[in-house]
Amino acid sequence: MPGAKKVLVKTFGCQMNVYDSERMAESLKAYGYSETDVAEDADLVILNTCHIREKAAEKVYSELGRLRQLKDERRREGRATQVAVAGCVAQAEGGEIIARAPVVDLVVGPQSYHRLPELLYRARSESRALVETSFPEEDKFNKLPRRTRTHSASAFLTVQEGCDKFCTFCVVPYTRGVEASRPVHAILDEARALVDAGVAEITLLGQNVNGYHGEDEAGSSTSLAMLIRRLAGIEGLERIRYTTSHPRDMGEDLIAAHASEKKLMPYLHLPVQSGSDHILAGMNRKHTAAYYLDLVTRIRKARPDIALSTDIIVGFPGETEDDFAATLAIVEQVGFAQAYSFKYSPRPGTPAAKIDAQVPEPVKLDRLYRLQRLLESQQTRFNAACVGRTFPVLFERSGRREGQLVGRSPYLQPVHAFAASELLGRIVSVEILGAGPNSLQGVIQAA
Ligand code: SAH
Ligand code: SF4
Ligand code: F3S
Repeated sequence: MPGAKKVLVKTFGCQMNVYDSERMAESLKAYGYSETDVAEDADLVILNTCHIREKAAEKVYSELGRLRQLKDERRREGRATQVAVAGCVAQAEGGEIIARAPVVDLVVGPQSYHRLPELLYRARSESRALVETSFPEEDKFNKLPRRTRTHSASAFLTVQEGCDKFCTFCVVPYTRGVEASRPVHAILDEARALVDAGVAEITLLGQNVNGYHGEDEAGSSTSLAMLIRRLAGIEGLERIRYTTSHPRDMGEDLIAAHASEKKLMPYLHLPVQSGSDHILAGMNRKHTAAYYLDLVTRIRKARPDIALSTDIIVGFPGETEDDFAATLAIVEQVGFAQAYSFKYSPRPGTPAAKIDAQVPEPVKLDRLYRLQRLLESQQTRFNAACVGRTFPVLFERSGRREGQLVGRSPYLQPVHAFAASELLGRIVSVEILGAGPNSLQGVIQAA
């Protein structure tokens, strides 16, 4: 009976998890589950979790505490509730989760989502908690149902998973496993299905997306640039983005695609992590500050107006005030349109967590504050420079104010404008009249 049961999927962490959550909800639909965002109504709650920093991982347990109460209340009303933990905490902690939170019925790692309905059924019928965190041989993407719906005109599409870079601070190689690229035909097929469902913009996802090297129909290895060119041939697909890129994998053909491929948007997230070569070496980033700066120059030569975004960690073990000054310096030199910055968080099992010279918390906090002030000023300046220009904006959702829509500029800034709801999903010329630190406002020029 379709829709007879309700599932709530709560997503933490990166876009990859957002994508996975959508695919999980889709695969459960065939088994009678419809989605809800009301926890009290949910027969099944899936927490799709993130392990990247300690705070992210701890959120799961506070959430599970709340779910225990909810499950008890529903039981008193004669209703059963299943609780599943998916994502990177599931992969990293496995059975420990059940030991710490017996409310959990199923722990399922990111490579086994295609088995979700079966695993839930087994947990129910055997009345015991299950843990599935192996890395199966079969390709989960092939086993998941074809995509038929989307929430927005902009969709994510995972093309590559896992990571072999082993940055010393990072859990991803352990939680997502070795690097693997999906074949070209599967991606084109999924992209066409998304466009048929009304999608105009696709963001290609991968932990190391520019390391993509999937096989094409002839069995040859295909670069991300070649994949983008193939996707650009799909009629109705207007915009292509990709994230996250590693500086070492920015090939010449990908840089060139930013010059030649009109559908490829002028925005690039390129994590630098630090401006100090000594720290970059300790992080095993495999690039120097000079390499990164030269790369930025080459990218800007290909696409002068490109907006750059980045990730930065402060307080990596051994980071001195001079190292931190080098990070501020590289930020000054590049000028970012947008950035994420974090205090280093020691993660179990990673090499950096074992280094003795951990930076004291107040020092990390002070550096984060100073860095964020600089990044915010750059972002504000970038946005302010857009006032007076006219951008093609893809409207994605209704705004908070009556009659307002929110879309994205080519540079990924949210743009607010008063517009008829028929313009949702369309790309419209908008003259930018105002800019804040995080978004722009404008008026519609022509539909
Ligand atoms: N694959 C991407 C990033 C994945 S994680 C890349 O290579 O850039 C997203 C960001 O979280 C990282 O870029 C890094 O800045 C941050 N991060 C990862 N591990 C962290 C840790 N242990 N402490 C603090 N920040 C971390
Ligand atoms: Fe983590 Fe480094 Fe891989 Fe990015 S490249 S996912 S930071 S190990
Ligand atoms: Fe978090 Fe896993 Fe993504 S650790 S950032 S959800 S790959």
